[in-house]
Amino acid sequence: MTAAKTGVDGYRIQPMRWWHLPSVRAVELELYPDTAWSLATFWSEISQIPKAREYFVLDQDKGSTEVVGYGGVAISGRQADVQTLAVKSANQRCGLGQHLLDHLISRALQRGASEMLLDVGGTNYPAVGLYEKAGFCEINRRKGCYRGYEETIVMRKSLRN
Ligand SMILES: CC(C)(COP(=O)(O)OP(=O)(O)OC[C@H]1O[C@@H](n2cnc3c(N)ncnc32)[C@H](O)[C@@H]1OP(=O)(O)O)[C@@H](O)C(=O)NCCC(=O)NCCS
Repeated sequence: MTAAKTGVDGYRIQPMRWWHLPSVRAVELELYPDTAWSLATFWSEISQIPKAREYFVLDQDKGSTEVVGYGGVAISGRQADVQTLAVKSANQRCGLGQHLLDHLISRALQRGASEMLLDVGGTNYPAVGLYEKAGFCEINRRKGCYRGYEETIVMRKSLRN
């Protein structure tokens, strides 16, 4: 993956901190108008860093404080679970989602995880495409509302070589 092709040049990934939350929440509301995580949920998630969570934001490396993407993973023993992954609509299809996911995988590996799991909406084709490209495979499918989707796909990737 080259920066020129993917368009990740000029962006940086940093640990998510409380002062990022208003900007994170704005992206969340844009992407999930009906099922957005509340500020309290984000607070609860980042309060578990570093023991049980890793969260990152993506912004432009030009002094801008505007968050264009974010992702988080729960770590428990050898298992890592993607909690959320999002890129602002205007910045999608430039390789940023893949960039963030690669970072979450790399952090999970550094924390000793041997597998990564996630839930994704059954008709969320951009996300399913992203995860399949990253080597995730479907291991289960269940009915029930997940962030506005009627069906949930559970996907898994082994982090062992
Ligand atoms: C899913 C999401 C994070 C992808 O981010 P992105 O920055 O647009 O993705 P990338 O540009 O890195 O794309 C990487 C790969 O994902 C897949 N993909 C991304 N968008 C796609 C789309 N609209 N249709 C089909 N495949 C898509 C492709 O395989 C792509 O590789 P390619 O460019 O070589 O074809 C973004 O669409 C998003 O934030 N969606 C709303 C929130 C969400 O659904 N998050 C996932 C929760 S489980």
